[in-house]
Amino acid sequence: FHNHFIETVRPLIELIDSLRLIGLDEDIGLPSIAVVGDQSSGKSSVLEALSGVALPRGSGIVTRCPLELKLQRLKNGPWSGTISYSGHRETFNDPLKVDNLVREAQNKLAGNSVGICDELITLEISSPDVCDLTLIDLPGITRVPVSGQPEDIGDQIKNLILKYIAKSETIILVVVPCNVDIATTEALRMAQNSDPEGLRTLAILTKPDLIDRGAEIDVLNIVQGKVIPLSKGYIIVRCRGQSDINDRIPFDKAMEAELEFFRNHNYFSSLLNDGKASIQCLADKLTKELADHIKKSLPTLTVQIQNKRLDLQRELKNYEEGPPLEEERMGNYLNDIMMKFSDQIYELSRNGHSSDKN
Ligand code: GDP
Ligand code: NA
Ligand code: MG
Repeated sequence: FHNHFIETVRPLIELIDSLRLIGLDEDIGLPSIAVVGDQSSGKSSVLEALSGVALPRGSGIVTRCPLELKLQRLKNGPWSGTISYSGHRETFNDPLKVDNLVREAQNKLAGNSVGICDELITLEISSPDVCDLTLIDLPGITRVPVSGQPEDIGDQIKNLILKYIAKSETIILVVVPCNVDIATTEALRMAQNSDPEGLRTLAILTKPDLIDRGAEIDVLNIVQGKVIPLSKGYIIVRCRGQSDINDRIPFDKAMEAELEFFRNHNYFSSLLNDGKASIQCLADKLTKELADHIKKSLPTLTVQIQNKRLDLQRELKNYEEGPPLEEERMGNYLNDIMMKFSDQIYELSRNGHSSDKN
């Protein structure tokens, strides 16, 4: 699906890239995509499936600092990663190192146990296999502090999340597992506060393979927007569970298995055709969001380019005519320069200064 994703947005991204190449100072900020949800709801798993980059994940508090994942697509060339945080910067070329380097960074910034930290870890990845996207992984919402965490850990995390989802260029993915009550989800409430009209909020339901028997119909109603309507709606996805990870199931295999899961599902199979199920479908939807964002930015960009051109034309007027383009005129041109120079030397030797302003 990465290919499909790339094909759809590529013309727009390439337009932006070429504008950047000709030296446009201010280019369009591509939107970033941030995930919000309870601890272990599957945030890192969703980002991992979207990006193809294996992130630290598991039970308990794993994501303890905001992690900005900047993906940059290369036309060709090897995979390259750079991790940076508070003065530290390290480049590496083994994708399997991501997990450990991020954990190491978190330990340095937030201590070795269960603390969290506001400081951003930035992970830049360039590869022919990723799309140009910025994804932000955030610590999960908790209510009850575990031993070693401060009393106000819940508020600390919420404030941290707010910082990211309040930005108008952030697309908010609210991640809710299928086996919890969505009506009581703090993440959804936070997203609705930051984006009351729901213009940039998408709800993602995870872990459909863990629904209690008999509860499938309730989940179906939620995905179809019959319980809590949202303007951009819901998408249900199945990511790699712990056993898939232990078995080292690769991303592409996991995605095939996901489609298989929905196709054969008694309740959810129709959602595939409605564009409401699978990571593939989520990627398509985000592609559309991204393309819309770029298109919306184009008028502003046009004005910026026009202003820049006017500035340059004004600046150009300050310069004298340069050397002639025709070779025949070059002799005269150099001759003139030398005559001027010789006049200046003469004047300098007579008066002790030159009248030339330059
Ligand atoms: P986070 O804390 O919200 O970032 O959650 P993680 O992405 O770390 O996921 C928590 C656990 O849930 C991990 O063990 C994942 O493997 C597992 N998980 C995530 N998505 C799914 C899913 O769709 N099905 C199953 N069975 N497990 C999942
Ligand atoms: Na977790
Ligand atoms: Mg996580």
